[in-house]
Amino acid sequence: MSHLVVYESWLDGHGRDLPSLLDELGCSWTFVTRKKEHYRRAHGMHPIVSRADRVVEVETNEVETALPYVRDLVGSGSAGIFTVCDYYIPHVVELCDRLRLPCAYPGAASIVHDKARTRALLDEAGIPNPRYVLTDSVDRAASFAARVGYPVVCKPADMAASVLINRVENEEELRSAFSAVSGFTRNFREQPRDSSVLVEEWLTGREFSVETSAVDGKITVHGVTQKVLDDRGRFIEVGHQFPAPLSEDETRRIEEFTRDCLHAVGHDHGVTHTEVTMTERGPRLVEINSRPGGGNIVDLVRAVTGCDLLLAEVMMALGRHYEPPALHGGTGSAASAFLIPDRAGTVREIAGVESASARTNVERVEVHAELPEQVEEAVDNAARMCVVIARDPEGPDASRYAQEALKQLDLVYEGE
Ligand SMILES: Nc1ncnc2c1ncn2[C@@H]1O[C@H](COP(=O)(O)OP(=O)(O)O)[C@@H](O)[C@H]1O
Ligand SMILES: [Mg+2]
Repeated sequence: MSHLVVYESWLDGHGRDLPSLLDELGCSWTFVTRKKEHYRRAHGMHPIVSRADRVVEVETNEVETALPYVRDLVGSGSAGIFTVCDYYIPHVVELCDRLRLPCAYPGAASIVHDKARTRALLDEAGIPNPRYVLTDSVDRAASFAARVGYPVVCKPADMAASVLINRVENEEELRSAFSAVSGFTRNFREQPRDSSVLVEEWLTGREFSVETSAVDGKITVHGVTQKVLDDRGRFIEVGHQFPAPLSEDETRRIEEFTRDCLHAVGHDHGVTHTEVTMTERGPRLVEINSRPGGGNIVDLVRAVTGCDLLLAEVMMALGRHYEPPALHGGTGSAASAFLIPDRAGTVREIAGVESASARTNVERVEVHAELPEQVEEAVDNAARMCVVIARDPEGPDASRYAQEALKQLDLVYEGE
């Protein structure tokens, strides 16, 4: 039986999946956190805390402070350190390095955590970027935007989950978005942030992500995922499909582009989820994440290829070899569709789960809400109440099956 140090976690996404995955692997864990209370939910403690062998409370934002505690855990048998919270990947990289442990992330994980540094390395490698500027001066941002033309995106260089991403159409909006981003001086884990703002030319085109894993320099591309966006102009993902319904040529082009980006930043180890927009002038990078894709992308890749990218990442943290099971004849597609609230209120019930689950090619419907739940109108990706997972075993239509099943689901609000 192996033991892992889990160094902070998201509450949702892979944070929801990790405890069961570790149980299945026969791996126990110590949870290291700066604030156990952060993991208290409406109906009790999050399983990453309640099912841990032990919980250590220490200031995880400071590697120097956490190091002696983690060193003791490693001394008493922990085989590795792992996190599913993006904000702690650089900390885990440093801890693994200092303690000479195997690591699920490369040194470059700390580079790609910074979107402006990533762009600079692409420039150096001659890979086309959108025009961009990183600045702490709103006047410089405004003159950049006037030069490249609106709309532009105004975003933090170091955050995640679509927080504070602003598409701005004019100078007035730019000034207000700029001050919102630069005024956000600490992230959600109270880590200090730089007040600089990343302003980028707006990329027009379809959005994809490329899922890869690499062991010591050898990158395997598992495929391209299509992001299905809300059709009301918000940055809300309403689903994904893997593989993306693209021609072989288009797929190869996006995959090659991603390999070039990973080489440019030196990302030669671990699992990545690289977001790419296919513009009229070719693929352009949105960002590289040093972890598997969220929003059930891990489930979609596993359904089609057999490879479990979250498991692969955990195995790398444990210093163990992961061999995905071989699948035969898997040429179909898998897709997710998300149910998100379109207005504020208290949701007391999700209707239609049984009939949606019973539809052809629907694998399952996951209810992520803890009802009754107070919700706001969705503004980012955190607002998923339900996820439909569908599979087309033969062809490219999984997303159609998932979106059709989603129509059976309804949020029932209190007072209705
Ligand atoms: N330069 C850009 N042009 C067009 N859309 C963008 C641009 N930058 C970000 N976006 C949109 O915002 C989303 C979130 O931005 P991203 O940089 O990936 O932030 P996060 O780390 O929060 O995921 C992207 O998936 C894309 O839809
Ligand atoms: Mg992103």
